[in-house]
Amino acid sequence: MDIAAASALLATHGQEHLLGFYEALSPAERTALLEQIAEVDFAQLDRLIATYVLAEPTVPRGEISPPAVVPIRTADGAMIMKKQRAFALGEQWIRQGKVAAFVVAGGQGTRLGYEGPKGCLPATPVRKKPLFQLFAEQLLAANRRYQTTVPLYVMTSPANDVATRSFFRQHGYFGLAETDVFFLVQGTMPAFDFDGKILLESKGGLALSPNGHGGSLTALRKSGALADMASRGVELISYFQVDNPLVRVVDPLFIGLHAMDEAEMSAKVLPKREPLEKLGNVCVVDGRTTVIEYSDMPETLARETTADGHLRFSAGSIAIHILSRPFVEALTGGGGEMALPWHRAAKKVSCVDARGEAVRPTEPNAVKLEMFVFDALPLAKKVVVLETLRSEEFSPIKNASGEDSLASSLHDQVRRAATWLEQAGVRVPRDADGQVAAAIEIGPLLANSAAELAERGDVNPTIASGGTVYLG
Ligand code: UD1
Repeated sequence: MDIAAASALLATHGQEHLLGFYEALSPAERTALLEQIAEVDFAQLDRLIATYVLAEPTVPRGEISPPAVVPIRTADGAMIMKKQRAFALGEQWIRQGKVAAFVVAGGQGTRLGYEGPKGCLPATPVRKKPLFQLFAEQLLAANRRYQTTVPLYVMTSPANDVATRSFFRQHGYFGLAETDVFFLVQGTMPAFDFDGKILLESKGGLALSPNGHGGSLTALRKSGALADMASRGVELISYFQVDNPLVRVVDPLFIGLHAMDEAEMSAKVLPKREPLEKLGNVCVVDGRTTVIEYSDMPETLARETTADGHLRFSAGSIAIHILSRPFVEALTGGGGEMALPWHRAAKKVSCVDARGEAVRPTEPNAVKLEMFVFDALPLAKKVVVLETLRSEEFSPIKNASGEDSLASSLHDQVRRAATWLEQAGVRVPRDADGQVAAAIEIGPLLANSAAELAERGDVNPTIASGGTVYLG
């Protein structure tokens, strides 16, 4: 796009200030700015600005009720049988190469304060394995166990794409075949001031940020990842976030339940710790499974209890999903905009003002828009909601300290490893409070569940109080 075309385009959409410093830019900077402008879909932005920036849409909610959940423990014989059949079916689908793993790792990790891509964070108690390694080793283990290939799709953002790819390369893809790891970059969205003007991050660049994990679905299509999956015979996408070291990347039960019910998208949940825990709430709204984000959940509903004193809305989303590939194809295939809504957040965004002076805001000065992947749930014809145990599958690293931090996750990883060992008959030292008194790590190549560890029968370490043990 040349400068004349860009000026005309921007004038049509009331964004001509983006070229305000054009004359002062170097030739390379000018080209880069024009390229950025050419990438933006201004017609779409006009609609989004009117709906989400200049207005603060309130989502109309119909009747909200709790979802039907496949329970973790049950005395119901038919359900027990169904879960057994589902597990076997899930294993069969994995063996047949119908499953891919998909990690969304495009987020900015601002709360954590870690500079690099979050997936590179050393995150295990003994070996300090990066998160990406943990996931890759789970896939290696599945490949060996089921004599198959589970390809890995990694979504990055423009800010961390190069660093993420080179991290995998430097580490030899953690033992995976390079051809079975597919990187895709997610889309971006400009930040706006409260009048709907796009902010400039510098004189020569728009303030862009990742468009939310909902953007992963379009990114799967645009990057060719969906086509790659189809050519491999992949039918189901096991979707997870980069921040949770306890995630089971390939879960036969979850996969099997989804496949058995011919679901289009499924979700894992666990009972919330307390009514206002920062987890999305899986609900049914007007007959459709829907996640209501913690910040949008009416507090009275969040606090409602049942006759026996339990939270009525206890199903917390841990952002682990199965998506059927044809469902993602249908959602993203229309040629027009994907049907997911956008979410508005007022944020502090560093930028340059009309005079070109740097602005470092102390109060929110901008609106950012993101799509959330769980907004695809209500569009699915059939959804399976599976309950899991927090101690087994969820201890994310989101904050620099306290709850959901590296420290709390390391603690939970050790506790889970200890439980698996004890279930396999190994003695684990514990202190007077019952806390595990050693640093223990079980590598994914050894086992990915208590059952896998127990079935090996050859794991019998002596663990000293205060000791450090890696089993891999
Ligand atoms: C998220 C969910 C919440 C869920 C919780 C479980 C949202 C809005 N909320 O909360 O319902 O209960 O996780 O842990 O997602 N990401 C991208 N690109 C983006 C934005 C995010 O790849 O543009 C990835 C991040 O790398 C991360 C994940 O999505 O892996 C979660 O994003 P984050 O913004 O940290 O969501 P939470 O508030 O933690």
